[in-house]
Amino acid sequence: MILFKKAAQLGRFLSEKKESGASVGFVPTMGALHRGHISLVMRSKESDNLTICSIFVNPTQFNDPSDFEKYPSTIETDISMLEEAGCDVLFMPGVAEIYPGGLKATRHYDLGYLETLLEGSFRPGHFQGVCQVVHRLLSIVDTDRLYLGQKDYQQCMVIRKLAELVHSKAEVIVVPTLREADGLAMSSRNMRLNASDRLQAVRIFETLRFIRNEIKTGYTGDLKERAIQYLTAEGFKVDYVEIANASSLEPVEFWDGKMPMVALIAAFLHEVRLIDNMLLQD
Ligand code: PAJ
Repeated sequence: MILFKKAAQLGRFLSEKKESGASVGFVPTMGALHRGHISLVMRSKESDNLTICSIFVNPTQFNDPSDFEKYPSTIETDISMLEEAGCDVLFMPGVAEIYPGGLKATRHYDLGYLETLLEGSFRPGHFQGVCQVVHRLLSIVDTDRLYLGQKDYQQCMVIRKLAELVHSKAEVIVVPTLREADGLAMSSRNMRLNASDRLQAVRIFETLRFIRNEIKTGYTGDLKERAIQYLTAEGFKVDYVEIANASSLEPVEFWDGKMPMVALIAAFLHEVRLIDNMLLQD
């Protein structure tokens, strides 16, 4: 695996590869890698000649400064996991490389209602920060395909919208969520859970499965309410439980029994915020 820290050097390397006809797959991450991230790398390796992973903990997408400060960093392990997976290139830029003009946003990305819904409403500014960094990364990494995890369902929709806004030719590929044996979605933030919270965290997955099993044509509000009550009684501080249109993410109050749907949950266990989602049909 080749490691690049400078955008210009990576750019030169990539243009040579592209001239010789290589297709490029790109997996952007914030490090503290787990098997979920690696599944994106593996997916890229199936389709592309060259797989690039980036590790950059992006300051502009953290609406909570202490979340940024406490974001785990496991760079040595990250590098060995990527090498073992057969990743070709690791891009590990510093802040000055990504934000040469400083952290202040110079552009507002018009994400429409996606900006104020669900994650957008609980994490103001978060998606603008995600767009800032992904736009910059896409301008450095001339990629054919961009691999994202379904784990961050709304982020996938935001980045698709970004790709459209900035006329990126990269195809966005969404890879299913990889889970621990008990069902907990793999996440870098799971490292911050203490032993008893780690056991409790699986209730989010169980609640999603409960919604999937119980959803019926008609009013969805009762099911949402039961899910919130259950999680609250189990010690979570719930940001939201939502049952939504799987393509638009708009909340669905009355289900016609046909429209593809997704359930999404965000909740805190002590100071650790966890998110997960599940499609309600196959
Ligand atoms: P990060 O949280 O490191 O996630 C990097 C990618 O891995 C994202 O596309 C995320 O959805 C995916 N991922 C995380 N957990 C997963 C799991 N259990 N199964 C499958 N994929 C999973 O998301 C970000 O970083 C940042 O916002 C980023 C896009 C890099 C911009 O800074």
